[in-house]
Amino acid sequence: MAEVKTQRLKDKVAIITGGAYGIGKAFARRMGSEGAALVIADIDLDNAEKTVEELKTEGMNAAAVKTDVSDEKSTLEIAEKTAEIFGSIDILVNNAAIFSKIKVSTVPFDELDMDEWDRMLAVNLKGTFLCSRAVYPYMKKQNKGKIINMASATFFEGTPVMPHYVASKAGIIGLTRSLASAMAEYNINVNCIAPGRTLSEDSSDESAVKSNEIRARTRQIKRIEYPDDLAGTAVFLASEDSDFITGQTIVVDGGTIFH
Ligand SMILES: NC(=O)c1ccc[n+]([C@@H]2O[C@H](COP(=O)([O-])OP(=O)(O)OC[C@H]3O[C@@H](n4cnc5c(N)ncnc54)[C@H](O)[C@@H]3O)[C@@H](O)[C@H]2O)c1
Repeated sequence: MAEVKTQRLKDKVAIITGGAYGIGKAFARRMGSEGAALVIADIDLDNAEKTVEELKTEGMNAAAVKTDVSDEKSTLEIAEKTAEIFGSIDILVNNAAIFSKIKVSTVPFDELDMDEWDRMLAVNLKGTFLCSRAVYPYMKKQNKGKIINMASATFFEGTPVMPHYVASKAGIIGLTRSLASAMAEYNINVNCIAPGRTLSEDSSDESAVKSNEIRARTRQIKRIEYPDDLAGTAVFLASEDSDFITGQTIVVDGGTIFH
């Protein structure tokens, strides 16, 4: 991780869904280094608690909340608990998804199980909507807020596999624009990051490294993408530096697709 000397998120409170692992965990660590208090909202409470312990050891203020982002009641509880523990909600990162920790299936599209289609859309797309709606009253009341959604470069590429995943990410780009218009009146910025293939966690899995190396060859910047490559963009979108940017999708993929 790049050494952080600034405190751009000082006194801010950030909820990071799916923050127990992978890219979400890297976002938590970077936002915590920038001074934010963190709520790690994940369906995997054990990992969320481990992450919180690590962050606390590094001097950060963090709490774990078990959450299923596809369940409305659970999303309302994250917002309530965050306000209860830390007093406000300034930043929401809608990062939780079915992708790697809970594996997306890559069978040909005509063999895809329809229950998996439904669960994918429920977690990735409806989850993003429900969490955004749950934090809205708090952000509206303070007349300020930052919502960061996670799409994927696969939307721009239109990969032949994972149609349900690609469709969920397309929906997130549309939802980003719609919510940005709906919430702008209260100075709530809603933006989106579209990462390229990212080697998540410090995976020693040889096949994961190999497939990421193959991906790297298709980029202008020919190296593997890591979660930390995305964290600076997330901090920018969470900070006052991006106050006049809303409804946008920033592709962070080393220049594979141009958008
Ligand atoms: N890794 C990549 O190559 C890549 C590329 C493009 C976009 N993305 C996006 O970036 C984000 C993070 O990716 P990642 O690779 O770190 O994913 P990951 O699968 O490694 O981690 C996702 C986290 O979300 C949690 N989660 C899953 N379902 C949940 C639910 N219903 N409620 C709450 N938490 C839940 C998991 O427990 C896990 O901690 C995702 O939105 C993903 O779609 C990843």
